[in-house]
Amino acid sequence: MPTLKIDGIQVSVPEGATILDAARKCGVRIPTLCYLEGLSPMGACRVCMV
Ligand code: FES
Repeated sequence: MPTLKIDGIQVSVPEGATILDAARKCGVRIPTLCYLEGLSPMGACRVCMV
């Protein structure tokens, strides 16, 4: 399980998780527009930049 730090907060996420998933898991809010949970990430709007 990969472990990383976001804004100084250490978080472990399952293999294949996105940076957005990790940020949400540790309570860091990243604004999104085209991201919809359960659908494949498409990165079309460039709002989240991750
Ligand atoms: S929410 Fe659209 S690119 Fe991330």
